[in-house]
Amino acid sequence: MIFDYLVIGSGIAGLCFALKAAEKSKVCIVTKKSISESNTYFAQGGIASVIRFPDNFNKHIEDTIKIGCGLNRREIVEMVIKQAPERINDLINWGVCFDKDEKGNFDLNKEGGHSEPRVLHYKDKTGYYIQNVLTERVKNNPNITILEYHFAIEVITQHHLGYKVKRGMPDIECYGAYVHDVLNNKIIKILAKITVIATGGIGNIYYVTTNPEIATGDGIAMCYRAKAECADMEFIQFHPTTLYNPVKRPAFLISEALRGAGAKLKTIDGYYFMKDYDSREELAPRDIVARAIDSVLKKTGDEYVLLDATHIDERLIKSKFPNIFKECLKAGYNITKEPIPVVPAAHYICGGIKTDEHGKTTINNLYAIGECACTGLHGANRLASNSLLEAIVFAHNAFIHSISYIDKIKINYKIPDWNEEGTSFPKEMIIIKNYFKELQMIMSNYVGIIRSNERLNLSLNKVNELYIKTEEIYKKTKISPHLCELRNAINVAYLIIKFALNRKENIGLHYNIDNVKN
Ligand code: FAD
Ligand code: SIN
Repeated sequence: MIFDYLVIGSGIAGLCFALKAAEKSKVCIVTKKSISESNTYFAQGGIASVIRFPDNFNKHIEDTIKIGCGLNRREIVEMVIKQAPERINDLINWGVCFDKDEKGNFDLNKEGGHSEPRVLHYKDKTGYYIQNVLTERVKNNPNITILEYHFAIEVITQHHLGYKVKRGMPDIECYGAYVHDVLNNKIIKILAKITVIATGGIGNIYYVTTNPEIATGDGIAMCYRAKAECADMEFIQFHPTTLYNPVKRPAFLISEALRGAGAKLKTIDGYYFMKDYDSREELAPRDIVARAIDSVLKKTGDEYVLLDATHIDERLIKSKFPNIFKECLKAGYNITKEPIPVVPAAHYICGGIKTDEHGKTTINNLYAIGECACTGLHGANRLASNSLLEAIVFAHNAFIHSISYIDKIKINYKIPDWNEEGTSFPKEMIIIKNYFKELQMIMSNYVGIIRSNERLNLSLNKVNELYIKTEEIYKKTKISPHLCELRNAINVAYLIIKFALNRKENIGLHYNIDNVKN
């Protein structure tokens, strides 16, 4: 198959890019499950953007850099935040609605680290509505071919033509991707002038996570194997408040917007502890709130803390947080009458495939947008609700940049078909699934909110062992999504641990007890 653009991933980043690119070109979206299975679908709080006085661009820029501990690229932060209102208008023009107050003004939520209310939202299901609106649009676009249950395995470069490709070489080129057509169980080659990785996050490599199963870091691993640069991989954001339920995956998120509306954290014994950790209390940055909860749980030996929203007007809870109210009720908690048991969970990766201001990776004709990318916006920590924003801004920038030279790119017809010689169907899928669980436990137990050199080194050894065993299986086994996900997850875990071991200071989301100076 041959297209102008190949977009891998169908969350907000991939769909926004495809809609723009399809105005002038033929676009193929491949997505490994059904089109709506994405992190985007689960987003609750909303999208941050400066909307009205007394907010201004400068405040949003400074909030973003403060939360990112200055490791952000200032020029990227300024560009994204100044572009935000235009990109929000794109969404609105495509049919996305955001809640308004009785006067017809946008109803803006306030979340941790924001100095002003600036989070546009649709109830507490913003992502669900965005995903549905964009999905409808791409499905009705004649220039877009959607391939669901198509799992991208590798991006194609000169390596597949037999040339030696090394990280750092300036002339690596991407020609498309090998993709597993899961339902027909065959591997196809999709050639494209431009390939866009929009494969989302990595949360599912942790056992306790807000992310759905698709979030296994495939795009990051594929690009790393293709010798692209990755950056900031140690900065994993743990969301402080997810509904405590050890047997349910993904963990159900209790949006920060509920804390923005006044919900308070306390121990099971009723002690309101956030005042001991930060003067901003419940609306301190997420890393601070998550570490505070972690330390309270270690001190008390309890399995969860409580988030108390019982003092908030019941009508407000039911109108602004209907989904949280409903999901908690299903789990046995009427949040207007009793506090919610909560624990932190792996939520978001700030690092990823390194890109420039256009979303271009270090490989030519290859872009990375959305959560899989490291653009420099977030630095050492992400300001709440800045990620949907980053995705729509970089989808736009990547389109504008790529359209300026796509006509000069020639499709490479010499790319060979996928070589399956010497492989057979896996005898025991259970081994692959168990290795995956093992990896999730290693990451949750040793590479979590609080790290130590001992735990990181132990996890590195364990991940190496899994790597060796998995590569052996991979060499002789036919491709399956589970095997590819395991391989990708191991690759991403390795990068997170390596980056964490190399970071010698505690900053933002990275906290290693051995870095604490006596
Ligand atoms: P995703 O939406 O995750 O889409 C990735 C796509 O890639 C999926 O379609 C997936 O199937 C596909 N894919 C992955 N690997 C492959 C492969 N190998 N082959 C083919 N397809 C593949 N951010 C905010 O800004 N505001 C919020 O309120 C907010 N709330 C959140 C709440 C929750 C519970 C979660 C989990 C995240 C939240 N976030 C929020 C973060 C935000 O949702 C994500 O960062 C954002 O949606 C990522 O969009 P994306 O398009 O990059 O990736
Ligand atoms: C939330 O609603 O708390 C999640 C927001 C985000 O991850 O940006």
